[in-house]
Amino acid sequence: MRISVIGAGYVGLITGACLADLDNEVYCVDVIEEKVRKINNKIPPIYEEGLSELLKKNIGKNLTASTDAENAVKNSDITFIAVGTPGGDDGSINLTYIEESAKSIGKALKEKNNYHVVVVKSTVIPGTTDSVVIPILEEFSGKTAGRDFGVCMNPEFLREGKAIYDFMNPDRIVIGELNKKSGDMIRELYKNFDCPIMRTSLRAAEMIKYASNAFLATKISFINEIANICERTGVDVTEVAKGIGLDRRINPNFLNAGVGFGGSCFPKDVNALVREAKEENYEPVLLNAVLDLNEKQKMRAYEIARDIMDLSGKKIAVLGLAFKEGTDDVRYAPAIPTIEKLLKSGAKIFVYDPEAMENAKGIFGNKVKYCKSIDSALENADLCIIMTEWNDFKEIYDKFSLMKNKIVVDGRRILDPVKAENQGMEYYGIGFPGKQYTR
Ligand code: UDX
Repeated sequence: MRISVIGAGYVGLITGACLADLDNEVYCVDVIEEKVRKINNKIPPIYEEGLSELLKKNIGKNLTASTDAENAVKNSDITFIAVGTPGGDDGSINLTYIEESAKSIGKALKEKNNYHVVVVKSTVIPGTTDSVVIPILEEFSGKTAGRDFGVCMNPEFLREGKAIYDFMNPDRIVIGELNKKSGDMIRELYKNFDCPIMRTSLRAAEMIKYASNAFLATKISFINEIANICERTGVDVTEVAKGIGLDRRINPNFLNAGVGFGGSCFPKDVNALVREAKEENYEPVLLNAVLDLNEKQKMRAYEIARDIMDLSGKKIAVLGLAFKEGTDDVRYAPAIPTIEKLLKSGAKIFVYDPEAMENAKGIFGNKVKYCKSIDSALENADLCIIMTEWNDFKEIYDKFSLMKNKIVVDGRRILDPVKAENQGMEYYGIGFPGKQYTR
């Protein structure tokens, strides 16, 4: 099928590249010329596993990037809106880019005769497609939604770092549809996917996205709360997570205790849902608690470090800056407030992350030392704090001998406490009933 995708950011580019790989003809549109140039030169503008290969395979064949939205819409039958919806401090989401895209699409639709379907992929508050996107499309096209063109809402459930795998192997596909004709076209696009395909109203599709992320965030805050209780009651939370995860109603995923969730989705989406609930005069008690606990949890590794030693003048190795492994993204990463607190305590911070160093430079400037390797960060350090669950950090036991004081705070529970102690380490971890209560 002929597809255009407005917004070649994280979601748009992955969607476009994957659909091209599935033999559709795809135009990816973005306002940033530099990004468009890079994509057309097969250079991924973001770090994402497998993206480079997809661009190499499909650019020049059936995938093209462009800055011209109207032309891309005219040359396609389905248009995905995949632009950003940045969150404000009050939890609101900014719809400027959605509105701009809808205007360009509307203008192009005015000159089209075939039944074109516009699909909202960006995460938007329930009701947005109905009350914001459709009126703009109708105004600028002079046409009627449903009758003259179709509208769907098709949320994404892509994890950063595993987005291509997730796109190609979805647990489910949700198609919110204005009418059957619109939904049928999107159903056809996904016809070769072997997973449940659920067709719903536009609003339900919008809400399913928020509720999915809110549930996963709740699961993380839940296990973090259990972890905090475990530390005080002499139980290792990893055993508890395993024990409860074997219950099929609970399942073992998203039960890794640690320094909390970050990233561009969970914090923003849960905040947006809280705000929406309040606007509708409902106090979302549970979701508020999920967010509160997460804010506190981000500081847990710092608190343990602070209780171990006077941090002033100490060399602290911080391993991991990204909000999780497999990405260079540092948005809402727990490492950021942790490092800020450590700096305030007068500690000297030496950081290392396999991918996120460049992005971190934009935040910390020259306030921290950027190390080229795990070894150089650990050398002579008084304390090591692990903030991201990178695989590279899982087997570092023999490197601890480089440290001055062999003390580690495992903010992601990726080390084996027994192995660490066999290397002469003093081990502290989230949800581990270790020395933090016996020192
Ligand atoms: C998430 C959703 O998983 C995805 O479906 C949605 O479309 C976008 O938001 P992402 O933000 O890429 O994806 O990250 P995810 O892998 O879900 O992790 C989010 C955060 O939770 C990370 O900071 C991670 O470290 C943390 N996390 C995750 C935990 O602390 N414990 C866990 O058990 C799982």
